[in-house]
Amino acid sequence: VKVDVFFTIPQVKDDLLHSGSVVLIDVLRATTTICHAMENGAQRVIPVGDLGEATSFVESLGRANLVLGGERDALPIEGFDLGNSPLEYTEESVGGSNVVLLTSNGCSALTRMRHVHAVAIASFANHRTVVDWLLKEGRDVVICCAGSRDQFCIEDSVCAGLLVSRLQKALGGKLELNDAARVGEVLVERYADCLVDSLKQSSHGRHLLKHGFAEDLETCARLDVMEILPFFVKDQITLETPAPSTEPQAAVDRVEA
Ligand code: MLT
Repeated sequence: VKVDVFFTIPQVKDDLLHSGSVVLIDVLRATTTICHAMENGAQRVIPVGDLGEATSFVESLGRANLVLGGERDALPIEGFDLGNSPLEYTEESVGGSNVVLLTSNGCSALTRMRHVHAVAIASFANHRTVVDWLLKEGRDVVICCAGSRDQFCIEDSVCAGLLVSRLQKALGGKLELNDAARVGEVLVERYADCLVDSLKQSSHGRHLLKHGFAEDLETCARLDVMEILPFFVKDQITLETPAPSTEPQAAVDRVEA
């Protein structure tokens, strides 16, 4: 089984997105926020890349039962119901609702992946569930980090590296890794016992700290606290498992979960 990690979206090799299981990570904060929204009963999250898209989804879906959330430069957007803090996405605020979410990196990365069969939404919060799904699928794996403004960022890369090392452990070290996946493993050795440090040391993490989001960093660093696996299919994220893709399965020799 091949595992390719891409630290930024522009680096992603498009052909690989059609031949394996695809994962998107934006630890701070989009994919963590999406997990919180889905865990707390949102019906679907519709990621959008700009204000114009947000407005047209709101116009076509109507304002009833719809929560509009997101950020610009990490701060809440005027006129929106919620910002991009995972802690805002409670059962009370999003339960039973459709959420239109506009964020600078994570959601904009998803809008660039609308042509992909299905994208699994990964964060530290639902990390083990993502690993179990990848093992069950048994296909080549493509892990995409949203990064920050198309630049490398530490926390997404650590989260990606932890996926690689957990898969390696389960498969007895038999994976074929690209260089970024190997770097991810090295980063995990550095941060495994202090995941939150990877968030606090990253430039986006420091930006969030400066704006008073310290609790978000603690929340986004919590590992394996949810068992959900949201999927982005076409233009929306739900908890529905996507229909299998028609690509052939690679043989997996699983050693340990
Ligand atoms: C993003 O997708 O750009 C991030 O979630 C930004 C943020 O931390 O709000």
